[in-house]
Amino acid sequence: MGLPEIRDDLSRLEGYHSPQVDVDIRLNTNESPMPPPKEWMEDLNRELLKVGWNRYPDRMATQLHRDIADFHNVDPDMVLAANGSNEILQSLLLAYGGFGRKASVFEPTYALHSHISTLTGTEVIVGECNEDFGIGEETVDSVLMQEPDVLFLCSPNNPTGVVSTREFVKSIIDKFSEIGTLVVIDEAYGEFSDWTAIDLIRDGAHIAVTKTFSKTWSMAGVRLGYVVAPEEIVESMKTVLLPYHLDSFKQIAGSLALRHISDMHSRVELLVNERKRIAEKFDSLPVQQWPSGANFILFRPTPEAKITGEVLWEALLERSVLVRNCSTWPRLEGCLRVTIGTPEENNSFLEHLEAIL
Ligand SMILES: Cc1ncc(COP(=O)(O)O)c(C=O)c1O
Repeated sequence: MGLPEIRDDLSRLEGYHSPQVDVDIRLNTNESPMPPPKEWMEDLNRELLKVGWNRYPDRMATQLHRDIADFHNVDPDMVLAANGSNEILQSLLLAYGGFGRKASVFEPTYALHSHISTLTGTEVIVGECNEDFGIGEETVDSVLMQEPDVLFLCSPNNPTGVVSTREFVKSIIDKFSEIGTLVVIDEAYGEFSDWTAIDLIRDGAHIAVTKTFSKTWSMAGVRLGYVVAPEEIVESMKTVLLPYHLDSFKQIAGSLALRHISDMHSRVELLVNERKRIAEKFDSLPVQQWPSGANFILFRPTPEAKITGEVLWEALLERSVLVRNCSTWPRLEGCLRVTIGTPEENNSFLEHLEAIL
């Protein structure tokens, strides 16, 4: 007898991967271009020597949860950390989605929201963003009528960079809470914009806000993310996590990072200034761009440039500059997404881009 077939509903699904190509300038996965502070690495090396590696880690990740809670000024019972915010999204869907349930997304957005929904057997409801990638009232109302169990809102949104206003997010929460939907705000890029929906939880909203150490904390290699949510939501998520899901290394790495908050803020400030500089340069080139509140900018060559997004992406790659090719993604015809790099990387990117255009 052969192996059993993969689950019917997954048989045509492809895994989700970004290309990992060896290039000089890698601006395709929205990582931080700078390493964490040197002191963090020194502290980490020292602390790792003290770990009893023969023992399971603290199942409740008590210290890490306390440190994250202090950082956001919330109760530790409102925090849960996991292996990247992707695992947080998965846990939310395992707990609140599943067969016979629905999750909604506003496209174009982070592909993993619908991908993990499908993996967990959750039906996906799509609301389409406007031309400018904002979310219109009609779209919201049509999604509302379909009564999703979970609704994802990504702000700043990947890949468009659009930041939802506090008023808009509040109106979504008000509308969807009435029909018992869990609203999940994905703030993977939250620190690059000027507000956080965690304030709304403090004001009593029943929402889950997901965050990551992969971007602003320069720790994509650690795979650490978390959710801030009312205790009841955190408790439900604990029922679907595997035992000892968060290893000792991550718990220590995260707590130590939180001792370097001002370094994180300076890195964010530098990247926000660089984002402004790239956006200004784009203004002088034949490219259309969308205002971004994240560490990347979505852009595409205009007809005047006489080059397609796909050809531009290849031409940049030939010059050893890798950006994200979104040109075949639905709604993003001809678009590329560039992650903000170091000033030197951004200079090279802009020089090559200008030369090609
Ligand atoms: C919007 C968004 N959410 C979540 C993630 C996942 O982050 P993590 O590395 O914490 O799994 C990403 C990664 O690119 C992202 O863009």
